[in-house]
Amino acid sequence: MMRMTSDGRGIVVFIWLPEKGYVPAALLTEHRPDRLCTLGYGQRYIRRPDAVPLDPVSFPLVMATPATSRRGEMFSVLRDAAPDRWGRKILSLLAGRHAVTLTETDILTAAHSANRIGALAFGESASEGPKSMALWAGGSVYSVPRDDIEQVAYVVAKVDGLDDDADLDELRRALPEEAFMQALASSLSVGGGRPKALVEMDDGAYIAKFSRRGDPWNEPRIEHATMTLAARCGISVAGTRVLETAYGSVLLVKRFDRTDAGEPRHFISGFTLHAAISEEGMWGGYQDLAQLARQHGDAFSGQELFRRMVFNALCANIDDHPRNHAWFVTRTGIAITPVYDVVPTQARFRKYELALACGHRGREATLTNVLSWPEPFGLRKDEAEDIGMGIVKVMRGWREHYAACGVAERDIRELEHRFAQLPG
Ligand SMILES: Nc1ncnc2c1ncn2[C@@H]1O[C@H](COP(=O)(O)OP(=O)(O)O)[C@@H](O)[C@H]1O
Ligand SMILES: [Mg+2]
Repeated sequence: MMRMTSDGRGIVVFIWLPEKGYVPAALLTEHRPDRLCTLGYGQRYIRRPDAVPLDPVSFPLVMATPATSRRGEMFSVLRDAAPDRWGRKILSLLAGRHAVTLTETDILTAAHSANRIGALAFGESASEGPKSMALWAGGSVYSVPRDDIEQVAYVVAKVDGLDDDADLDELRRALPEEAFMQALASSLSVGGGRPKALVEMDDGAYIAKFSRRGDPWNEPRIEHATMTLAARCGISVAGTRVLETAYGSVLLVKRFDRTDAGEPRHFISGFTLHAAISEEGMWGGYQDLAQLARQHGDAFSGQELFRRMVFNALCANIDDHPRNHAWFVTRTGIAITPVYDVVPTQARFRKYELALACGHRGREATLTNVLSWPEPFGLRKDEAEDIGMGIVKVMRGWREHYAACGVAERDIRELEHRFAQLPG
């Protein structure tokens, strides 16, 4: 039974510990009537020698009393584990309700899957373990489709074509029930706006990112080309490949939140690392993230973030917001994850601004600006210039690289505008 007390609703937060599986770590309580939430570690969990903090910045293991969320806001680390626009659309289809009528807690805990992104999971009681908490889900645990990208792409294309949930019944009639639920429920833990699904391929767990109605170019291919170009610039990237289906190209991104043995790995976003910012406010800069990462034990982030910043500025990847950066969390500290979601913006502008500040001239996406303030990355000016020039040299070959990745000539012509800051 759901823990309902006069105090509110209690949700057990589980975390996957290596070789131990999901263990209860904390209790999230949604208090009535004002929906303020508190989050407190379990005493048994804190005493474990292998306990990992959910959020080492705002919610360290030494926290004696439960933390209280800001009104109407979910704890940042839990917000990281919840879906964004695409997952919320799926949720509203499954729930038969508009997503804005669901609370953040409903959205977070609706459906459990063994393939859930990250290492957190939710349930009603510590002894029962994680389970789906939405009434429509009936406690079931969803697993993701195996190898069946064509079927998933078909379902996703249908859903992408729906403007609102009014067509839900029609859609459900047209699809085999089980495939429908499985394919879509896998989206409920993955963030971001693009249509996507979690899938299991022969060589491990992947995120599939699909083409979308209204894309001006072949986004999956361009994202693959950009990610592999970033790798050639010395940036640590998630592995990608492209599959063709009857419903357009699909990008497969290898999941870094699973070990080779398939065990979940816990990670937090740049929003959680940079606790002073919020989704609605100012997001600070790369320099802030570099310094914060170092303070929390990540010696490697400085140069890595510097490379990502230079690369993003020179290919107009302006969607480099704090949720597109992430850090693994272990007991001893944090470590930056491979980069993901690196792709030039679809919209053509005369000048580009990154989402994060990147130099003395704020968010201006120019080489001069990204080279202007390297000290917070632990780099001297001359070191930064050397790294920057190395990246420029590789990026100059972008046209050949994109063509070799199968990006069409027409798309390459449009991409010229995104690479315009690259010194010739
Ligand atoms: N390779 C990956 N492994 C694990 N999690 C990932 C990976 N790539 C992305 N994610 C998670 O999924 C979310 C959405 O992916 P993203 O590529 O950013 O999609 P979108 O283009 O829709 O923003 C990210 O914010 C991140 O939390
Ligand atoms: Mg993203």
